[in-house]
Amino acid sequence: MSNGTRSNGLLGWIDARFPLTKMWNEHVGEYYAPRNFNFWYFFGSLALLVLVIQIVSGIWLTMNYKPAAEMAFSSVEYIMRDVQWGWLIRYIHSTGASAFFVVVYLHMFRALLYGSYQKPRELLWIFGMLIYLVLMAEAFMGYLLPWGQMSYWGAQVIISLFGAIPGVGEDLALWIRGDYNISDVTLNRFFALHVIALPLVLVFLVVAHILALHEVGSNNPDGVDIKKNKDSNGNPLDGIPFHPYYTVKDLFGAGCFLIVFAIVVFYLPEMGGLFLEKPNFAPADPLKTPDHIAPVWYFTPFYAILRAIPDKLGGVLAMGAAIVVLFFLPWIDRGRVRSIRYRGLAYKLALALFAIAFVVLGYMGLQTPSDVFVGLTATRWSQIGTTIYFGFFVFLWIYTFFGLEKTKPVPERVTE
Ligand code: HEM
Repeated sequence: MSNGTRSNGLLGWIDARFPLTKMWNEHVGEYYAPRNFNFWYFFGSLALLVLVIQIVSGIWLTMNYKPAAEMAFSSVEYIMRDVQWGWLIRYIHSTGASAFFVVVYLHMFRALLYGSYQKPRELLWIFGMLIYLVLMAEAFMGYLLPWGQMSYWGAQVIISLFGAIPGVGEDLALWIRGDYNISDVTLNRFFALHVIALPLVLVFLVVAHILALHEVGSNNPDGVDIKKNKDSNGNPLDGIPFHPYYTVKDLFGAGCFLIVFAIVVFYLPEMGGLFLEKPNFAPADPLKTPDHIAPVWYFTPFYAILRAIPDKLGGVLAMGAAIVVLFFLPWIDRGRVRSIRYRGLAYKLALALFAIAFVVLGYMGLQTPSDVFVGLTATRWSQIGTTIYFGFFVFLWIYTFFGLEKTKPVPERVTE
């Protein structure tokens, strides 16, 4: 097996025709990952697990779902009541959507903690951000499919935002809907995009994401480059083969995750209206607007930013900028030190504030704008949150560009 191939047996036969052992070795058996991975390093493999759960449960839902305005809502009811285990498949898929965002947000936060987006991992980060964008589109389109009140009116609100773009806005909204209103036509195209086009793009991007990761190697909680110190075989001294060490670690993480996931699926599938919103238990009615329209929780931080700006176009631009700015993070942060362990105190405080602001924005995005919390309206809180959100990036650039950061010395080797 010296050059990565076996010479006999079925595997040998395959290896002579397809690089199976070679690929296994390159990406698993002989992929050296830093030996100091911690809790935060569970979420990449968990995101992969959730992706598989969503694809498999989605295929089975599609077997009984009807993508037509007249039938969509009742076909979901039929899945819930009459299809054997249909309720389970549906709850797995609806819980999986929220789980995907929980896992991905924690995965992204890890990158901020340990500077995993910094050189040479910029492209890996960009692939991650593209995944995040496609994931948002995927979730948005999936939410229209049950054709409930919130499906309908949520889509109505979001698509009409495109109308705010000067000049082309209205035509763009018309092009997305395929009709003057959200209609059967919209449902049909969202179905096509949700079940095949976007999942294909997602899978492609995830493969690119992992190839980019394996090209440059994983970062770690110390932010140390493990490739600098190698043994006589050329393997990093602070690295361990992904298999069996991290396959076992990730299996443990998957087990813990699945326990929590099962508890939610079996006991809390609606999560008090957060995962499945109450108005969505009524069929879509184009003549009756729900009292309060709010997107699902994973969109609400951006929805709060949208509502923080009184002007519609300004709000749409701010919401777009909140996502776009993340793409540029590797170039905004000019710091030399990756891990939060060795970064300046101001960075630690700023990151904590940024995370709190993101959660506050998410909470405020779920409320009606005039609701009052600790003396301030949800809109006012959203404005404060938005200022902190963008302020973080401005601060980070100034702090690192002008060399104001007082870092601690980064160790030569990983610490335990
Ligand atoms: C379907 C969604 C995603 C999947 C399946 C996925 C998968 C993975 C896996 C398996 C790893 C290696 C294990 C780990 O570091 O935890 C990884 C690393 C990484 N991912 Fe993702 N990822 C996803 C989304 C994202 C997003 C949205 C971002 C950021 C915008 C991102 C940024 C990163 C970065 C920076 C690393 C390197 C971390 C390090 O080495 O410290 N990923 N990803």
